[in-house]
Amino acid sequence: MRSHYCGDLDESFIDQDVVLCGWMHRRRDHGGVIFIDLRDREGITQVVYDPDTVESFSTAERVRGEYVLRVKGVVRRRPTGTENPEMRTGQIEVLGKELQILNPSETPPFQLDIDDHEVSEEHRLRYRYIDLRRPQMQQRIRTRAKITRLIRQYLDENNFIDIETPMLTKATPEGARDYLVPSRTHNGAFFALPQSPQLFKQLLMMSGMDRYYQIVRCFRDEDLRADRQPEFTQLDIETAFINEDEMMGFMEDMIRSLFRQVLDVALPKPFPRISYEEAMKRFGSDKPDMRIPLELVDVADLMQDVAFKVFSGPAKSPNGRVTALRVPKGAALTRKEIDDYTQFVSIYGAKGLAYIKVNDRQTGRDGLQSPILKFLPDEAIETILQRTSAENGDLIFFGADKAQIVSESLGALRVKVGEDLGLLEPGWRPLWVVDFPMFEWDEGEKRWFALHHPFTAPREADIDKLDNNPGDCLSRAYDMVLNGSEIGGGSQRIFRHRIQEQVFRLLGISEDEAQQKFGFLLEALKFGCPPHGGIAFGLDRLVMLMTGAASIRDVMAFPKTQTASCLLTQAPSTVSETQLKELGIRLRKPQSKAASNES
Ligand code: AMO
Ligand code: AMP
Repeated sequence: MRSHYCGDLDESFIDQDVVLCGWMHRRRDHGGVIFIDLRDREGITQVVYDPDTVESFSTAERVRGEYVLRVKGVVRRRPTGTENPEMRTGQIEVLGKELQILNPSETPPFQLDIDDHEVSEEHRLRYRYIDLRRPQMQQRIRTRAKITRLIRQYLDENNFIDIETPMLTKATPEGARDYLVPSRTHNGAFFALPQSPQLFKQLLMMSGMDRYYQIVRCFRDEDLRADRQPEFTQLDIETAFINEDEMMGFMEDMIRSLFRQVLDVALPKPFPRISYEEAMKRFGSDKPDMRIPLELVDVADLMQDVAFKVFSGPAKSPNGRVTALRVPKGAALTRKEIDDYTQFVSIYGAKGLAYIKVNDRQTGRDGLQSPILKFLPDEAIETILQRTSAENGDLIFFGADKAQIVSESLGALRVKVGEDLGLLEPGWRPLWVVDFPMFEWDEGEKRWFALHHPFTAPREADIDKLDNNPGDCLSRAYDMVLNGSEIGGGSQRIFRHRIQEQVFRLLGISEDEAQQKFGFLLEALKFGCPPHGGIAFGLDRLVMLMTGAASIRDVMAFPKTQTASCLLTQAPSTVSETQLKELGIRLRKPQSKAASNES
C-alpha cells in the first residue's frame, strides 16, 4: 500500500517513485499549483500537484484538513530558495502523479500544528485520538516506549525476572483509598485493585525468585495533581540478599544509563545523599529541588525572648520552628507581591509572612524596613543578617509556627520564589533522601502512622526503640528525588515475623485485623523469608521529566481528568439494574435526595 514513510524521505531518494500514505496536514494553493503537506508518524513531506495531472489536481482541490490520503509520485529537489533546512525532508518534494482519498474527515476540533497550551486540555482529552496525532505527543509517547525498552533491557541483562502479579487482589496500604471491584461469585465481597504490588513482590522473594521486576499499573483513589493520576505505572523492583547501599548503587546505575542513552546526559556518580532531617531543615521538603540556590536558616535560638509572641511562642516550643529565607534582590518586591506570597503560604496553614527588607546593611536599623523590626533587639537582627548572608537589596522572609507548617510553607515558598525570580539553575540534580523516621504521630487521630508503608524495616540499631520511643526510630527507606520530584521510593523490608507483628501493633492494627488483612504475609514470614528490599519508580513522572512535559497526563496516551474521569469514553458510567442485581448491589440514594425523601 505504501513504499515509504513521509518523514523518512531526503535527497537520497531523488528521482525515485514513491507511494505515501498519511493525513492532510496543510494545503496551500499557489496560483495554479497546489501544495499538500502530507503527515505520518515519521514526519511531513511536501507534495506538489500541477494542473497537468488533471484528475489528481481536481482531487487535490477537494482535500481538507485530516483527510486520509494515498499519494503516488516522484521525489525531486525543491527549487532553489524554497528549501527548508529545519526539516529532514526540507530539500525535496514529491511531484504528485496520483491522489487517492482513502477517507475524508470532518473539520478537526483543533489545529494540529499547535502547542499544548494553545487549546484547552478538556478539548484535547475529549478528542485524544486527534491530539495524539500532534508531532509533540507522538514524540513523547515514543520516548516513553524507548525508556521502557531500555529499562527492560538493563534489568534483563542483570538477571531480573519479569513477573506479573494480580490486578484483582486485596487492599495494599500505600496511603490512598482503594478502587474496589465487586465479586459476582461472592456477593458482598470486593476485590481491591492494587495500589502497588508491594506484598506480592515480597512473597516472590520468599518464593526464591531473587530478582523481580515489573512495569505495572497501580491504582490509587486520591486527590489528583499534575504529577498524580488514579491509575499510573510503576517500574517495580525487588531483590533478595542485597543491602540498601547495593540497591541504591544499582538503581543509580540504571537511571544514569537511561539518561545517557535517551538524553545524552551524564548524571553525577554517585548521587548525593541527604538525610530526611537535613532535607527538612535546609529545604523544608523531603523532595528538595536542588536547582534552587536558596536555603532555610533557623533562627529560633534568637527569638526565645523577643516581645513578639508569634515568634517567641514557636521558638520556645519543642514542636515549633522559626526560620528565615533570604530572597536575593527581594527588596524590590512590591507590597502586592508580598501580599500574594503571604496568600500563597496560607495554603499550607501559615498565619502570616513576616519580612525584613535590607536596603542598606551598613546603617543598622535605619537601613532596614519591616513590620517586625520594633520587636527585635539589635543583636538578633545582626545575627539574622549574618546567618542568611543578606546583602543590600535582599529581602528576608520569616515563618514561625508548628515545625510541620513552617517547613511545608517556607519549603513551598522557596520553590515558588526560585521559579518567579528565575533562579533555577539548569540541568539535572538527582539525590537520595535517606534516614526517614519510621513513624509520624497524627495529633488528630492520636496514633502513629508509617511514613512509608508498614513493611519498611527499622534500622537494626533502632529496633529497641520500637516499643518505648517509636518517634525516634529511623527506617531503612530511600527515596530518589530528581529536580524536586519524587521519582522513586523503596526500602529494605521487615523479614522477621516478630518485628512485623510489633510494627502492626504499634500502628494500632489489632491482632485480629492483622490476621484478616495480612495473615498470608505473616504466615509466609515464618517459612524461611530471606532478607530483601526493593523500590518502585513512578514511570510516568520519570518520562514527564525526561520529555520536559508539564504534566504526567502529557506522557500517558489516555489519561484521566483531575476528577478521575475519562472524557473520551465517559468512564466511569452507570450500569444496568441487571448487572447490579447479579453483583448483589443496591445503590444508596444520593444524599440530597435521601434527605428530601425523609423530610
Ligand atoms: P510509593 O507509594 O512511594 O511506593 O510509589 C512509588 C512511586 O510511584 C509514583 N507515584 C505516582 N505516580 C503517579 N500518580 C500517582 N498517584 C502516584 N503515586 C505514586 C511516585 C512514587 O515515588 N510499594 C512502594 C515501593 C516500594 O517500597 O518498593 C510504593 O508504591 O513517583
Ligand atoms: P501582625 O502582628 O499580625 O500584624 O503581624 C506582623 C507581621 O508578622 C506581618 O508581616 C505578618 O505577616 C507576620 N506574621 C504573622 N504571623 C506569622 C507567622 N506565624 N509566621 C511568620 N510571620 C507571621
